Amino acid sequence: MTTSARPSPRPERPSRWQPVLETGRGALIVLAVATLIWFLLRYTLLAESFAWALPYGGKTAWYLTRSTGVVAYLFLTGSTMWGILLSTKYVREQVPAPVSLEMHRLLSWLTAAWSATHAFLLLFDTYYVYTLRDLLVPFVGPYRPIDVAWGIIALYVLVLVNVSFGWRQLIGANTWRRVHYLTFVVFGMVTWHGWAAGTDTSLMGMRLLYGGSTAVVLFLTNYRIITAVQAKRTAASAPARP
Ligand code: HEM
Repeated sequence: MTTSARPSPRPERPSRWQPVLETGRGALIVLAVATLIWFLLRYTLLAESFAWALPYGGKTAWYLTRSTGVVAYLFLTGSTMWGILLSTKYVREQVPAPVSLEMHRLLSWLTAAWSATHAFLLLFDTYYVYTLRDLLVPFVGPYRPIDVAWGIIALYVLVLVNVSFGWRQLIGANTWRRVHYLTFVVFGMVTWHGWAAGTDTSLMGMRLLYGGSTAVVLFLTNYRIITAVQAKRTAASAPARP
């Protein structure tokens, strides 16, 4: 009797919509965990022990909102700078592409996570009473609604840019790149938001942070545009292949 080997089943090709499904699942998990934490800290016995453990009493949430905002801004500056640098010749030669891309993606997600925490902490503020609606809907909050709205809109756009990291095949390279350029808009909106809404803007250190970050991002963007134009010109003037 001959034993003919059965052909191994063909590996299933992942669906084009797989990244979208994964994003939806991730968003649901984050929402569920955030709602649970908020509910436990606000409406159960845990709330009292939480308030008691806070080192600065009712002001703790405010201090934490401000500090997480600053950390989120540092991550955003780092992510924007690295995003511009990773396509330069120097970084391409020194850092393997998958590593530099993963670093960029990580910095971008850290920015989103820190910003979300920064906003979430406002729910525990004892001076201004924030509701979930004030965090999700721009222009309606109790404190400087217009300046804070830029932060809310920026966070929506940032999440869109972040989830689109995995959608390159689905939406095509050109659309993907255009979506990615929105990072510059996010950077501008957040810089304005922090400057105008932040209590600490009067401090020299914060002014240097906003001014220095903006100067570096503008410088790198200019550098990137100039090198891209030069590369195009060199390619256009190269003699055609025989
Ligand atoms: C839902 C989105 C957001 C809301 C509701 C929000 C809300 C606020 C509020 C109310 C303040 C004023 C706090 C104070 O100093 O009294 C503030 C400041 C600030 N936010 Fe946001 N924000 C959001 C998104 C963001 C994002 C995306 C970033 C950065 C990536 C950011 C960075 C900052 C910074 C740097 C400050 C200044 C902190 C300081 O002066 O110490 N925010 N934000």
